[in-house]
Amino acid sequence: SQTKSAGKRKIVVCRDLGKDAMTMLNSSGHEIVAWERDTPPSREWVLRNVNGASGVCVMMADAVNDELLEAAGPSLKIVSTFSVGYDHFDIAAVKAKGIRVGYTPNVLNDSVADTAVLLVLMAMRRVGEALQVVQEGRWPQTPWSPFLLTGPALTRPSLTIGFLGFGRISHCTLERLLAFTQPRDSPHHPSCVYTSSRIRSNQQEIDNEYTARFGVPTRRVEADVLARESDVLIILCSLNEDTKGMVNETFLEKMKRDAVLINVARGPIVDSVALAAALEKGHLCGAGLDVIDGEPNIPANHPLVLNPRCIVLPHIGSASDMSRGSMADLCVRNVLAGVEGKEMPAELGL
Ligand code: DGY
Repeated sequence: SQTKSAGKRKIVVCRDLGKDAMTMLNSSGHEIVAWERDTPPSREWVLRNVNGASGVCVMMADAVNDELLEAAGPSLKIVSTFSVGYDHFDIAAVKAKGIRVGYTPNVLNDSVADTAVLLVLMAMRRVGEALQVVQEGRWPQTPWSPFLLTGPALTRPSLTIGFLGFGRISHCTLERLLAFTQPRDSPHHPSCVYTSSRIRSNQQEIDNEYTARFGVPTRRVEADVLARESDVLIILCSLNEDTKGMVNETFLEKMKRDAVLINVARGPIVDSVALAAALEKGHLCGAGLDVIDGEPNIPANHPLVLNPRCIVLPHIGSASDMSRGSMADLCVRNVLAGVEGKEMPAELGL
């Protein structure tokens, strides 16, 4: 119709978002320019095609910076990312141009929490080493024996579960992990420590609420206490100038010898060289990384990939069919609402 074509906007989509989401886009009446493949488009393709676009759907690999904003020009209203993390955005640049940002919170909480638990269990029970025994045909020389491949138990008395960052995904992870620990009413019940970017004036009240909600003592601590007290330490904070390289040699040295370190947030929070050295020295029981600094360019001979005490996954934290389907749906609904000047289902507060 006349009105429809008058309101027709250009939307650039940097990846195949799956059948349902692409159908929603293609039947929206807007002009859709899509890189309909499962691999990233070149930067050149993105910069060329965003020209004159009102909306862009991006992935974590697509830097949203001045370069992209300039290439798009004044028509750009919204950038919708297929992720909950937004460290690939130059937020100041986006803000300065008054561009809205859509993201995909909540729909991936359960899947990422599942991945965190998976890595905790794999690291504690030394699954990397165990798999190697079988895959390398060493089982005949490594028969069952009482203390073969034993690791720390989650039911250990007074287990301390630590979180670097305590948002929605951490909460889902804690709820799941508590099912594996001593009963909450036992004298040896677990407890939780976490860091958050800033201490609040009503911190005690907040911690009391968490304690009531999770049924175990829960308290905010400084990073060095987190390092020292955690038996299981899960990184679930966003990547920014404060958290980049935070888990470095000094931090790792403070950790318990039989603790496990899990990263399901962003690779650069952990100093890979320091972690590889710590694991090599036998300081730490193991690590589970869904993300790693330098990804996806991680060679098979990377020291952390080679170390059987370290489980490395290729950033599949949210990769359940349900979460990814919901992320695609949310990403598209955000971009459509953004180009049409409507309320977005999930807009990042800038
Ligand atoms: C995100 O959404 O930020 C994750 O890293 C990918 O699921």
